[in-house]
Amino acid sequence: MNGPAPIEVLRQHLIDPEICIRCNTCEETCPIDAITHDSNNYVVDAEVCNGCMACVPPCPTGAIDNWRTVLKAEAYGIEEQFTWDALPAQGTAASAALDTLAQQTALEGNSAAITAGIKDDESEGPDVDTTRGSTVPPWSAAKPYVNLYTHKAPVVATVAGNYRVTDETAESDIHHIVLDFGALPFPVLEGQSIGILPPGATKDGKLHHARQYSIASPRDGERKGYNNVSLTVKRVTRDHHGDAAHGVCSNYLCDLKKGDHVQVIGPFGSTFLMPNHPDSHLLMICTGTGSAPMRAMTEYRRRRRLKGATGKLMLFFGARTREELPYFGPLTNLPKDFIDTTLAFSRTPGEPKRYVQDAMRERAADVAQLLRDANTYLYVCGLKGMEEGVLQTLRDIAGQHGLAWDTLWPRLVREGRLHLETY
Ligand code: A2P
Repeated sequence: MNGPAPIEVLRQHLIDPEICIRCNTCEETCPIDAITHDSNNYVVDAEVCNGCMACVPPCPTGAIDNWRTVLKAEAYGIEEQFTWDALPAQGTAASAALDTLAQQTALEGNSAAITAGIKDDESEGPDVDTTRGSTVPPWSAAKPYVNLYTHKAPVVATVAGNYRVTDETAESDIHHIVLDFGALPFPVLEGQSIGILPPGATKDGKLHHARQYSIASPRDGERKGYNNVSLTVKRVTRDHHGDAAHGVCSNYLCDLKKGDHVQVIGPFGSTFLMPNHPDSHLLMICTGTGSAPMRAMTEYRRRRRLKGATGKLMLFFGARTREELPYFGPLTNLPKDFIDTTLAFSRTPGEPKRYVQDAMRERAADVAQLLRDANTYLYVCGLKGMEEGVLQTLRDIAGQHGLAWDTLWPRLVREGRLHLETY
């Protein structure tokens, strides 16, 4: 005898549009392309998501970690999710689904299936480790605060300074912007980011979403003892294809005057953090504005040089030319016994193109020595294209120096010692 059709209940994975800062981390991380976005929202396709959780730890805000129990046949579609300004209430759909399930279970005398975001044809998520970088912080990192201020309740900061940090002759207009929070609490750690809410609205009348920027100052303030943070912001005048484009938030920030007020949300990020134990070594690789977190970490270590500490700092920094490299002067003035800096310029007239990877290969013996040390923490921040090249270079250097990268890489990832932030 045929019974009633089985009712399947789904624990549907959703992204909270009110907290999401549209940083694209989840979409990049998802190993099966279940996450997509439009100009309004990032969304999860219930038809594709298998609940593998790969996207959850890297999300800087926690917006990704939302779940609703729904009847599988009535799962929220991506078109509907694109229109949301807030998540649907938990109670309604969930309890209705569970009530139906309970009735059915009583009718059938057996339990109906609850699928936790798992597709019919797959009993488990993929068992391949698709994580290239760490999704846990270094063991000795301080505990970060996240999401203290949200889109609904931003904090208002005052501009304390706005300076250009690339040469006047350079095409890149990169600014160092200091935001002061006065008496309002805004605790941050090096490696974290904040969101800026640019004023105004999009063409279709919606308020602009927050734009995310890495903090360039250490935890105790751009100026020690002040309740402020600094950002490194490049004025966007071209899109990824090189066509003319006007970056809404970067132009707003680069044009700010001292005393202006800015709406800020955050802080965000709980993994790209620095180790606190003073014998830890930092191997930092960056291009352009990817230098922001490196500046924050370096400055924290400079202020806190403990007697007897053995931790080293090694930095590889790439830019088109010397004039295009932000903070060129202050960076090159840092004592050699404090930080070992190698610059790589790709467009110096009359010289061959040089990327950070080339500079790392030239310093292979020193890089290998750090890779060998269990106290070494790697940070890569900047252009997306650099990530692949840097990982390949690390593999090559490891191989040339008797280190098995295939064992070392997962170990670095697991131990919170390989942090990648590229865009
Ligand atoms: P390029 O001269 O090839 O553009 P940008 O100024 O665009 O932020 O770039 C910063 C630096 O990163 C530039 O020197 C740029 O060189 C370099 N770069 C571009 N692609 C890569 C890559 N795949 N790996 C490493 N560096 C790169």
